[in-house]
Amino acid sequence: MKFSVRLVIWVVLACFMMVVWYMFGNPAQDNRLWAVAQSCSSSTTESGNQSTHWQTRESSPDTCSPRRNILFMKTHKTASSTILNILFRFGEKHKLKFAFPDGRNDFEYPSPFQCSQVKNYRPGECFNIVCNHMRFDAQEVAKLLPEDSVYITILRDPALMFESSFHYYNKAIPLTWGIVGDDKLAAFLNNPWAYYTPGAYNAFYLRNLLMFDFGFNNNLEPEDPEVARAIRGLSKSFHLALIAEHFEESLVLLKETLCWTTEDLAFFQLNARRSLSVSRLGPELRAKALAWNGADWRLYRHFNATFWARREAYGEQRMQREVAKLREINARLRAICIEGGEAVDAAEVKDSGLSPWQPLGESSILGYNIRENLDPEDTALCRKMLTPEIQYLSNLGVSLWLTRLWGWIQKSIF
Ligand SMILES: *[C@@H]1O[C@H](CO)[C@@H](O)[C@H](O)[C@H]1NC(C)=O
Ligand SMILES: *[C@@H]1O[C@H](CO)[C@@H](O)[C@H](O)[C@H]1NC(C)=O
Repeated sequence: MKFSVRLVIWVVLACFMMVVWYMFGNPAQDNRLWAVAQSCSSSTTESGNQSTHWQTRESSPDTCSPRRNILFMKTHKTASSTILNILFRFGEKHKLKFAFPDGRNDFEYPSPFQCSQVKNYRPGECFNIVCNHMRFDAQEVAKLLPEDSVYITILRDPALMFESSFHYYNKAIPLTWGIVGDDKLAAFLNNPWAYYTPGAYNAFYLRNLLMFDFGFNNNLEPEDPEVARAIRGLSKSFHLALIAEHFEESLVLLKETLCWTTEDLAFFQLNARRSLSVSRLGPELRAKALAWNGADWRLYRHFNATFWARREAYGEQRMQREVAKLREINARLRAICIEGGEAVDAAEVKDSGLSPWQPLGESSILGYNIRENLDPEDTALCRKMLTPEIQYLSNLGVSLWLTRLWGWIQKSIF
């Protein structure tokens, strides 16, 4: 379809969806007016028997006990779906209380997070786990969680993240539709200001997406004092930033931070892409991508440094032992659970409950087939480990009508 026609259809649909959303999808909208700013644990009236599932950590001075109150700030294109699966399983197993969005799989992203976006939220109510996509707001999030909560997130090399985001959201970013040539990414990076307009529809996917996700202005230059301030603030809020490039080591540090078992952290990589569609950035374009996403690059380097310091403090030998242990458990589970032992193209996944959500125009996401004739206990664990985010959310009782409708409309048009 022609560019201009697509743009018009897109805008009309976006307006339509917004109207639908405000009419039917967002009954909690007014909570905002009477919500009082406070951390949930400082409220005494709402705790106790009313929140039946809400559990707190029994603290003991000598041994650590597993942490149950967690914020996971889910960033884009960073292997965060795999972490989500780990959190879903832990939360389900221990009957923890999740703060879920309503009607969709994110907290009205890209709008800034508000407690009123949480399904059936009542001011003062406490939750154990908050982990869906949001545009982070430290003060709003704090209202949902007890004060002893652990804040974690995951970061990825900004050049790779940019590349991923550029391709993955391509159809959703009108700014990129007019780029001509075979290599749109290179054309963009060679002259970004020819295509980019701050504040344009979905423009944040094209520049400093990490800064944006964390609630900051994504158009700051890296030397801007605002960026340093943002990084300082995040260092205070977050106890651990996982690094996607060192995923297993990150999980070992996470295990220590949360006082969980290695079994708790066993995983199969979810929402991964076929290697065909992995990075094609040469050194020159990589440098340009990093310069263009300078604020993210600065943020990433800061947390990379803290990650390596943590890793060093943890001890290299101990780290290697723990990584080996994690790999062993993963391999054992892979042999038990996965037909053929490997991921396959999404189209080859036989069970729709395990079929990954394919974004618009994308066909490179991989999924898994579960082995047949497993005993019931293995079936239960394997299914949970292999279930993609959308289906898992449904299984946990989240209605996703808006996400599904939106996906259906996009697929029917483009
Ligand atoms: C919850 O209710 C049970 C019985 O209804 C009672 O024994 C218990 O003390 C209550 N707990 C709290 C924290 O109010
Ligand atoms: C991350 O930190 C390590 C250790 O200091 C360093 O070797 C590596 O180059 C850093 N990575 C980036 C992308 O800066």
